[in-house]
Amino acid sequence: MQIVHISAECYPVAKVGGLGDVVGSLPRFQNELGHDACVIMPMYRSKYLYTHDWEVVHKSSSNLGHWWFDYTVIKEKSNAQGFHLYLVDINGLLDREKVYGYEDDVERFCAFQIAVSNWLCSWDKLPSVVHVHDHHAGLIPFIMQHTYSFKRLEYVPTVLTIHNAQYQGAFGWDKTMYLPHWDSWKRGMLEWQGTINPLASAIKCAWKVTTVSNSYLGELTSMSNGLEPLFEYEKGKCSGIINGIDYKVWDPENDKYLTENFTVKTVSTGKAKNKEILCKQFGLDFNKPLFIFIGRLVGEKGADLLPKVIYDSFQHIGRKMNFLILGSGDPEVESAVSLLKNFSQGDFNEYIGYNEQLSHLMYAGADFLLMPSRVEPCGLNQLYAMKYGTVPVVRRTGGLKDTVVDMGERDGYGITFNHASVGDITHAIYRSVELYHQKETFNNIRKNMMELDFSWSRSASEYIQLYQSFY
Ligand code: ADP
Ligand code: GLC
Repeated sequence: MQIVHISAECYPVAKVGGLGDVVGSLPRFQNELGHDACVIMPMYRSKYLYTHDWEVVHKSSSNLGHWWFDYTVIKEKSNAQGFHLYLVDINGLLDREKVYGYEDDVERFCAFQIAVSNWLCSWDKLPSVVHVHDHHAGLIPFIMQHTYSFKRLEYVPTVLTIHNAQYQGAFGWDKTMYLPHWDSWKRGMLEWQGTINPLASAIKCAWKVTTVSNSYLGELTSMSNGLEPLFEYEKGKCSGIINGIDYKVWDPENDKYLTENFTVKTVSTGKAKNKEILCKQFGLDFNKPLFIFIGRLVGEKGADLLPKVIYDSFQHIGRKMNFLILGSGDPEVESAVSLLKNFSQGDFNEYIGYNEQLSHLMYAGADFLLMPSRVEPCGLNQLYAMKYGTVPVVRRTGGLKDTVVDMGERDGYGITFNHASVGDITHAIYRSVELYHQKETFNNIRKNMMELDFSWSRSASEYIQLYQSFY
């Protein structure tokens, strides 16, 4: 099958979060199953662009309302990622350093989706399936099925994967002229609550919809930032497929970001060496259990609770543990986290910003990973943590619920709690500190976790089965 993934992120070209990791690995696993999967994404001005060789495969022009633009599609020559990787360049819109966060994001992603549809239309043989990811590519199913200029794509099957329904990309009807010409009675296929909502439109138009875990799918009918009735209505075409992780990138045995690699057999010494490096770098105490948080510092991740949790843990449990936070996001949360340093007695530190290399060292050197997420469609951090022998301490929600079993349950290996509340999280930290001191149990849990299989093999075939249901 020829599978075309369309996404705003793809690791290592451009990554903001887990979407990048998934789109950067799933296609390779689909190819290993004998298919022909490729990725099409915007041509940002990221480091990857300047360190690889490219060839121009297509040049054309299209229009965003009254504005005509030229676009160019380039292809990475060496197939370095294990799949064909295409970047779409639109001068003035996509030639930026960052992925998101610009005032004209609506224009940028509308133009990107129009250029992609325009290019697909020119293919001699149309793809077997067009697989769009999140709202940045969410208008494509509508464009393919309901706009005159792209009629040729009308019967190509489409799949939407929702990595996060919190973000929907909605914009006002005053921008309707950006969309290629369509019959106005089809307005309902774009609209949700008085706006053009690309995520809602994709849920309505795509042939199938998937979310990145089963539990998250279940939660969407009662908690999806306003789309609840839509999920209820469309549930017949929705299914949950849990993400896998790419062991080529995420394996402590051959992780290229680590200087001290380790395996299940050498986990104790291996992690100790990494912890030593980390503690030295951040002025922490090697002898205390180290709790880390890695991620976007936003309410969705429960990051706003961390300052109070850390403060309360020191108050109630004592200064028996260390915390290290890596992340960026909401400026208020960033400054609350930074302020905590004033109270540190060599037991708290942070790195505000994005740092891929540091994240690997943290998974490798930490004892526990905190994930008090309010919403977690899948979550990759807990999967990486487990592969690196770091015990996940997570809220029982979405993908966290589907991948972490509390150590109190049969064959359990993590620590879980129910509410994103300071009390519940602090209690989970208390349980973790207790576990840390039961050396034998702690070591066994580490080893068991490292041997769990969260590879892509199963999930990649589940996607293929879904595509095959169209034929
Ligand atoms: P989300 O996509 O919602 O942010 P995931 O758990 O799916 O959450 O994936 C987050 C990914 O982004 C992981 O690979 C994690 O290591 C990485 N990450 C998040 N924040 C940072 C950061 N500040 N520095 C480095 N890596 C980060
Ligand atoms: C999203 C979700 C996260 C998921 C990732 C990859 O960003 O917030 O839970 O793991 O996408 O699917």
